[in-house]
Amino acid sequence: MQAPMEIPRVAGGREINSVVIGEEQLAERIAALGNEIAEYYGSGELVLLGLLKGSFVFLADLVRKIPRPFQVDFLMAASYGSGTKSSGDVRLLYEPETELEGKHVLLIEDIVDSGNTLSRVIHLLEQRKPRSLEICTLLHKRMANALTREPRFVGFDAPAAFLVGYGLDHAEDFRHLPFIASIED
Ligand code: IMP
Ligand code: MG
Repeated sequence: MQAPMEIPRVAGGREINSVVIGEEQLAERIAALGNEIAEYYGSGELVLLGLLKGSFVFLADLVRKIPRPFQVDFLMAASYGSGTKSSGDVRLLYEPETELEGKHVLLIEDIVDSGNTLSRVIHLLEQRKPRSLEICTLLHKRMANALTREPRFVGFDAPAAFLVGYGLDHAEDFRHLPFIASIED
């Protein structure tokens, strides 16, 4: 038998504190989300748009839990520097090539903090005339005052701490952790 994988708890001089959401809890909630999403969308073409990089792990698990046909594409925005504070500056580095006009578009986000990134991205996607445009976020800190549109699907309410793992990074470290943990700020 294979020995269980040792998970490194230190990177870039930071150490993770406590596990905030464990692997089983993530898997359970994501399976339920998949069903919620399939039930919400009746007929019509659906495109899931993963907001890179943070959503890549969540999206990979979520797509396998939505029992209806859909397409997948990505877009990339950068709002944070290398630290734990938002710069308020959002840049689009990659835009989806998939035709969005007339399709249901579901934007997949890892975490909503200030809502700055989402508001900017939503504005840009609206110009591509989707049939509908909704947000699914794994985590919601419930402190956003810059949000122009509330996420339709939320995995978990998140504490105000800085979180890493399951796609979320601190200075590009910790994305690979199979759970969500907090780190000291
Ligand atoms: P917002 O624009 O302030 O809502 O920030 C959104 C983006 O910042 C998210 O997509 C994440 O990439 C990043 N972010 C916000 N909070 C955290 C956190 O606690 N840990 C890691 N990344 C975060
Ligand atoms: Mg990030």
